[in-house]
Amino acid sequence: MDEMVIHGGRPLSGAVHIHGAKNAALPIMAASLLTEGPTVLHRVPRLRDVETIAGILNSLGVTTRWVGPQTLRLVPHWSAAYVARFDLVRQMRGSVCVLGPLLATRGAAVLPQPGGCVLGERPIDLHLKGLRGLGAVIQAGAPCIYARADRLRGARVSLAGPHGSTVTGTANVLMAATLAEGRTVIEGAACEPETQDLAAYLSACGARIGGIGTRTLTVDGVKRLRGVEHSIIPDRIEAGTLAAAAAATGGEVTLEGVRPDHMEATLEALERAGAECRVEGDSITVRRTGPLRPVNLVTAPYPGFPTDMHPQLSALLCLARGRSTIRETIYPERFTYAGELSRMGARIARADATAVVEGPAPLHGAAVRATDLRAGAALVVAALAACGQTILSGVDQVDRGHQCLEERLGALGADICRRQAEPAERSEKKSA
Ligand code: EPU
Repeated sequence: MDEMVIHGGRPLSGAVHIHGAKNAALPIMAASLLTEGPTVLHRVPRLRDVETIAGILNSLGVTTRWVGPQTLRLVPHWSAAYVARFDLVRQMRGSVCVLGPLLATRGAAVLPQPGGCVLGERPIDLHLKGLRGLGAVIQAGAPCIYARADRLRGARVSLAGPHGSTVTGTANVLMAATLAEGRTVIEGAACEPETQDLAAYLSACGARIGGIGTRTLTVDGVKRLRGVEHSIIPDRIEAGTLAAAAAATGGEVTLEGVRPDHMEATLEALERAGAECRVEGDSITVRRTGPLRPVNLVTAPYPGFPTDMHPQLSALLCLARGRSTIRETIYPERFTYAGELSRMGARIARADATAVVEGPAPLHGAAVRATDLRAGAALVVAALAACGQTILSGVDQVDRGHQCLEERLGALGADICRRQAEPAERSEKKSA
């Protein structure tokens, strides 16, 4: 197992090019199951989650090959396979996005039931409701989901849930609807940039989708979709994380190749906290020269402040003078990062679904663990600003969403490296 060693206190400075969005790449890769002919995807991040979905697709008849550093060619072959590889699906909740395409093309799908995770329960009832609305018959008792549909028929379905819409649920129903008979209207649809990117890809393949970017999607089913070339949108969360790191260290970093329009809520939060964010075309320069200010944030579906930026902003706000709050409305359990940040001197209390951050906390290095991807990103932000050495374990979580993070931060002037963790017994003996 790898760990990261970070010596904090160096302001980040320079420019960094932002990778493609993992959460857009995953469903678009799954959508290749729907097409006839190859798809070529540009700006695909080289991440473990991408390899996981590629492995699942391979077992379902899609060959995948890297044909450039960030370019992936997917070729669907005729296959009747409809059982997704359980070992791979279990590694990543996002792989549930093969459900809709399998139903649409194979008339059946079998997947392991995705369990809860550190973010909370994370049910998929809305996915199932939407697909049942299109005529699928689904048994979803533990431990598996068995779904079948002799023929999918367009219908009016609502995906509005207690926490807003569902991003992957919208992807599943949207993909299934593209090849269903007749018109589907998806109400309460997610309108995240990643959902819009999927809809843009499907439209280029020949799908007839109206209302892209709104809460109501209208899909007129077509008989077939073709493969196309498509560029994945830049990762707004990777960009936001690096922006938070620039602000936390009092540095100046230019994020290149971004979509500033996808990042408005994050940029507004950073500016309210005292960072200057200058947008020029597809780049954003984030700079902080003065002290940080406390802010109150509430996570919300797009275009609101993204839950996937909550932990990183908490880490930043530890350094602001005064009390900040972040109310979490998407994942009521997204607070495991707070305990780890406390080891570094942060003063964060949880009040129901709100993180209350008291600052400024003199952050110091510590041995901490990434419990999930964004928690790990928050710990990296804190460690870069902290005094002394931080040893971050659970780096595989960070790797799920960040390609070569330590190299990129190193190029911006951070003192960060990756090493293999010593086996527990050896390091215990050493310290004894
Ligand atoms: N929900 C339901 N029923 C459902 C589906 C979701 O109640 O059937 C609830 C969830 O429990 C949650 C909320 O609705 O409270 C939103 O869940 P959603 O389905 O939108 O999340 P997701 O599609 O599983 C994606 C991203 C997450 C990101 C969320 C919210 C992917 C692969 N994952 O998850 O990304 O936090 O949308 O924006 O796209 C991450 O990248 O670190 C990550 C967790």
